[in-house]
Amino acid sequence: MPSISQTLESFVTNAMQLAGIPEGTPAVIKPSNRPEFGDYQINGIMGAAKKMRTNPRVLAEQVVKHLQLTMATRIEIAGPGFINIYLSPEWIAQQVTEKLSSASLIEATAEPQTIVVDYSGPNLAKEMHVGHLRSTIIGDAFARVLSAQGHHVIRQNHVGDWGTQFGMLIAHMLDQDNNDLALQLADLEQFYREAKVRFDEEPAFAEAARHYVVKLQAGDEQCLSHWQQFIDISLQHCEAVYQTLNVLLTRDNVQPESAYNEQLPVIVSDLDKVGLLSESEGAQCVFLDEFMGKNNTPLPTIVQKSDGGYLYATTDLAALRYRQETLKTDRIVYFVDARQNLHLKQVFAIAKKAQFVAEETRLEHMAFGTMMDKSGRPFKTRTGGTTKLIELLEEAQQRAFDVVSEKNPDIDEAERLAIGKIVGISAVKYADLSKNRTTDYIFDWDAMLSFEGNTAPYLQYAYTRIRSIFRKAGKIDHHKVVITEPSEHQLALQLLQFNTAVDHVAKDGVPHYLCNYLFELAGNFMTFYEACPILKAEPNTQSSRLQLAQLTANTLATGLKLLGINTMERM
Ligand code: ARG
Repeated sequence: MPSISQTLESFVTNAMQLAGIPEGTPAVIKPSNRPEFGDYQINGIMGAAKKMRTNPRVLAEQVVKHLQLTMATRIEIAGPGFINIYLSPEWIAQQVTEKLSSASLIEATAEPQTIVVDYSGPNLAKEMHVGHLRSTIIGDAFARVLSAQGHHVIRQNHVGDWGTQFGMLIAHMLDQDNNDLALQLADLEQFYREAKVRFDEEPAFAEAARHYVVKLQAGDEQCLSHWQQFIDISLQHCEAVYQTLNVLLTRDNVQPESAYNEQLPVIVSDLDKVGLLSESEGAQCVFLDEFMGKNNTPLPTIVQKSDGGYLYATTDLAALRYRQETLKTDRIVYFVDARQNLHLKQVFAIAKKAQFVAEETRLEHMAFGTMMDKSGRPFKTRTGGTTKLIELLEEAQQRAFDVVSEKNPDIDEAERLAIGKIVGISAVKYADLSKNRTTDYIFDWDAMLSFEGNTAPYLQYAYTRIRSIFRKAGKIDHHKVVITEPSEHQLALQLLQFNTAVDHVAKDGVPHYLCNYLFELAGNFMTFYEACPILKAEPNTQSSRLQLAQLTANTLATGLKLLGINTMERM
């Protein structure tokens, strides 16, 4: 079922043409934000009039004359040439009924694509820390939205499992008693720190570490098996985080840096073949005119160091080629920290120039800012270290349990624990997803766990309240949806705009649009519920209002699910 804007669009475009406006001129149809401007507004007439050098109001009159809208009760011209459309309540009611009976609230895309979503991508030498939170949950929400729309989504977890740090880790592993190795690796962070201290302080250890890097790269079996053991444990740690976070990444989505090892020399020689490679201070580099450094000196992208080693950029070039040639993708979307902007710009440009990636394949970097603590500094533990993500999530669950216990002491403890788990994780996720992706944001426990404002607990609670209306209403007779009150009109209209918000996320990777939509929807429902009694209404009205409530509950649950957030029956 097309959105209201889409439905209106075809009628309006037709009327615009009949009014003599050149084909291709955008109609720009938007929901009016104020009831005095009707339900929808056509904003494109002024632009058209400017191009045609004619009076916009006169042009608007021509368009209105040709506009045959059976779903409108009134069409009027306003201001310098806006056209306001008032939709008929019967038509809106009928749309609500259709939505309620459709199998999915999410509109399937007309053009399904194969889309690679690159997200999370922690470095496996250490445990996941708070710096990995944003990529993991924003990327996951984005991937959920695209698959719900019917795209073929390929999740790629580009984990860092290769590099000099692993020499150091292997050296430290080999020095442990085999019996307590497993125990020691239970805390990877600690293990890494110990290895690092030794690397910095013991020359013999550092020497051994370098030696193991060479052996590892040469495919030495003992080194490989220790490395594999380490990677395996580290991935288990990641999986525990993903599970706690209700994030869909699994082992199958792990496509590690090491998977591209064999391709790295090929990448370098192919860059050479197409004439993109040049040597600078012994290193193999690519210089592109669009990347200039300070003093207008060309900026290199190094693909092979003078000692023969390959770099992060080389691996990303190999990954781009794999995604194009093997995964046959139409679009590749990266959820990576804004600080890697230049790196990704460079590899995208090189991959296109070298034709590792087709010209029409869309490469997008969905950058994000940093998570800050309450004093506005990058998030650290009390002792100044990086916070392990798993510990932050455990704290979230504990805090949510406390909040729920205070609000609802009557619920038995097991259920409160279960609710606390969902609410705590949801609060952390939603606090992040609801912020504009590109800016830094402040991580604030009290704000995110509040039952008021644009938070997960507020939305989850709104959902439980609607569900409790249904429990109280008992058996429901199905009568027609009838829209009479302004708050019913407002709620119904907003319910019909769900897919516009979803589309926005799919296009621009901006989950905060969907969050804002759901927050406004919950607010509109509250306004409706206060103005329009449900349980005390006579049966026809009650049935109609219950259907609006039902569609609201479904929309809230579906929208939250797209964000990777679950709902409960009570909390
Ligand atoms: N491992 C990288 C890091 O921790 C992130 C990987 C992002 N994805 C990519 N294809 N470069 O910074």
